[in-house]
Amino acid sequence: MSISDAAKALAAGELVILPTETVYGLAGDAANADAVAAIFTAKGRPLFNPLIAHISDAEMARRTGVFDERADALAEAFWPGPLTLVLPVRDDCPVCSEARAGLDTVALRAPAHPVARELIKAFGGPVVAPSANRSGRPSPTTVEDARTETGAAAAVILDGGPCKVGLESTVVALLPGEPTRILRPGAVTREDIAALAGPLSEVGADARRSPGRLATHYAPEAPVRLNAPYPLAGEAYLAFGKAPKAPQVFNLSPSGDLAEAGANLFSMLRAADRTAPRAIAVAPIPMVGIGEAINDRLARAAGFVG
Ligand code: TXA
Ligand code: MG
Repeated sequence: MSISDAAKALAAGELVILPTETVYGLAGDAANADAVAAIFTAKGRPLFNPLIAHISDAEMARRTGVFDERADALAEAFWPGPLTLVLPVRDDCPVCSEARAGLDTVALRAPAHPVARELIKAFGGPVVAPSANRSGRPSPTTVEDARTETGAAAAVILDGGPCKVGLESTVVALLPGEPTRILRPGAVTREDIAALAGPLSEVGADARRSPGRLATHYAPEAPVRLNAPYPLAGEAYLAFGKAPKAPQVFNLSPSGDLAEAGANLFSMLRAADRTAPRAIAVAPIPMVGIGEAINDRLARAAGFVG
């Protein structure tokens, strides 16, 4: 199936499995409330959790959300790329209220993956795309994993290869009169955001600000045990750097590279889970740079957050 088939499917209100550089998305026309409802149903996603609208360029973004100086600076520096900006919604915003869960804000991202960019351009308007997993499961980073999770709901499945970043985008809220808040850490790091849009304020457990962060996320079937220097009998193990000799070891990055570990995290969690272990033990991951996002997803996989 081609990009033009996918653009036609979107225009007909159908859904598309879409590769991005972060994770695969389940995409639909952001202006079509029926398509949006089909996305929520396919994912089993609570209706209070809003979707990200993907745009192809700054002009499409500015028709949708209200940019301040911080948003200008971050968009200039990191778009296209793994950064989502939560902005006040424009009155004539093309993203329907259902996609925004009725909020007066809209989440915008310009993806860098060429297939995603070309599809949005061909379609000609914003495309909503949550990660293509069923709600509460790890995000898919390969087309096979996306097909397994929500492929049945999609009219077209686009294969863009394995996702290079492998972790969902950094979500940053930029609201008038409020300090910058990171709602979800990602490959664009805290330091990157602070340098251009600081100072940062912590989120706290405020459902209005961060609706999607309340639910437990990314959980495999097996329990997850964190900061484990080695696996116990019957456990699968996600190593980082030097790997111990054990039966079911998946090395996130033999060289200890955090970007590589991020790219491998979800696919290796799934692979470890498929061995039906007693638990998945995970090596300590340094809390620097993209390590913050990796540790965030691991804490959620272990059920420690929210
Ligand atoms: O990398 C990504 O962001 C991927 C790819 C497909 O682009 N998409 C993704 O979407 O991760 P999703 O729906 O799985 O996560 C979107 C996050 C949720 O935590 C949601 O609550 C938050 O963004 N979000 C969306 N709109 C928001 C808004 N108006 N205010 C606050 N948070 C919002
Ligand atoms: Mg998701």
